[in-house]
Amino acid sequence: MNHLTNAPTAERPAILGGNPAVTLDQEAANRWPVLTTDDERAVIQILRDGDISTHSVIRQLEQDYREFSGLPYALAHCNGTSALMAAFWAIGLQPGDEVLVPSATFWASVLPLVWLGAVPVFCESEPERLGLDPVDMEKRITACTKAIVVVHLWGMPSKMTEIKALAQKYRLKIIEDASHAQGASWRGQACGTLGDIAVFSLQGGKLAPAGEGGMLLCKDGDYWERAVCFGDITRIIELETPARRFAATSFGIKTRIAPVSAAIARTQLARLAENNQLRNSNLQYLSAGLEALGIHTFLPPPHVERVYFEYLVRPDFASIGLSKQSFIKALQAEGCLAALPRYPLLHQQPFFTEGAFMAVMRPQGGQTPDYSSVSLPVTEAANDSMMKLPSFPWASRELLDQYLTAFEKVIRHADKIARHFDEKR
Ligand SMILES: Cc1ncc(COP(=O)(O)O)c(C=O)c1O
Repeated sequence: MNHLTNAPTAERPAILGGNPAVTLDQEAANRWPVLTTDDERAVIQILRDGDISTHSVIRQLEQDYREFSGLPYALAHCNGTSALMAAFWAIGLQPGDEVLVPSATFWASVLPLVWLGAVPVFCESEPERLGLDPVDMEKRITACTKAIVVVHLWGMPSKMTEIKALAQKYRLKIIEDASHAQGASWRGQACGTLGDIAVFSLQGGKLAPAGEGGMLLCKDGDYWERAVCFGDITRIIELETPARRFAATSFGIKTRIAPVSAAIARTQLARLAENNQLRNSNLQYLSAGLEALGIHTFLPPPHVERVYFEYLVRPDFASIGLSKQSFIKALQAEGCLAALPRYPLLHQQPFFTEGAFMAVMRPQGGQTPDYSSVSLPVTEAANDSMMKLPSFPWASRELLDQYLTAFEKVIRHADKIARHFDEKR
């Protein structure tokens, strides 16, 4: 299928004074989250019931997630960050334990580790699926390595065959941060069920959002109990094990989700598959057109079903003949919502490079990690090579065709655009 047959590509690019290619409304096409009368009804029910703190909707949400994942244990949290912290605590990480982590992720995949005195060890992310690179990971394993944080970045499942093999070989626990990957699967198994313990953030931009919320999932009842003791004051008192003795205190944290958020999370989870399908079909269409123009769009391999939390693509700027900045500016002039990727790499942040983490980390045995010289050239290059487009949950084919026309115009006229930006003399 050629999307561009009738495209007016001979037209002057907008950055050089031509008409923008994208003229259709984009607000509705990209509206997220989508809250409907189902969400309204669910929230109003909580308000009418009057229990805005411990309502049974929280348990119903956990039941929904048990059914969704097929796992026996679920514990709702007030956000994904607290669920990750509880997960790190639950698997028993101790001060000085090393944990293999990606640098290319949202900070909450990593920073809660520091509060437990555990030491994040940044690894390269591989450029194909943007998850942890198993070859690089193995080089960084020491006698202190205890766990791996896997992040299925932007909704693309990581290389789990190799990562699971490493975990088995070195007896490492896998914590899955599946916050971007609600509804994705790897070899027929859902993301969120691929490691020892998993977390979904349910923050407002996520694929099944609650507003603010998080969900912890696991197979092991001991992990669930530790997570309960960590901060779910409602549940500790219900435990029928010796852990109940912590009911008066928890471990100093409070992690319970608000019922209004839990109510929204339930209706959103019920619509997850349908909503993912809309994004997938739009972005598969757009990806086919962009791939035809030579732009890499992170298509999944056959054994992987990806979802699109965000849509990142990798143009070959050198062969197009434009710098990333000029390419993005020219697309923006065409009306495209093109942008740089959202997450700065963690290993380059002052929290690590300036040793600011020492304000919270209490490493044991006198060994203080030094992040000032960490270099991850593959991750840095991959991050540098990408740009972000909208996830188009509700776009029409016409709007997607306008995007393809914009890309083709900019690529076709790259030479003139480069001269415009004085990139060539
Ligand atoms: C990959 C990832 N992990 C964890 C979180 C933290 O979740 P929350 O914002 O719900 O605390 C987020 C995002 O918000 C995320 O994108």
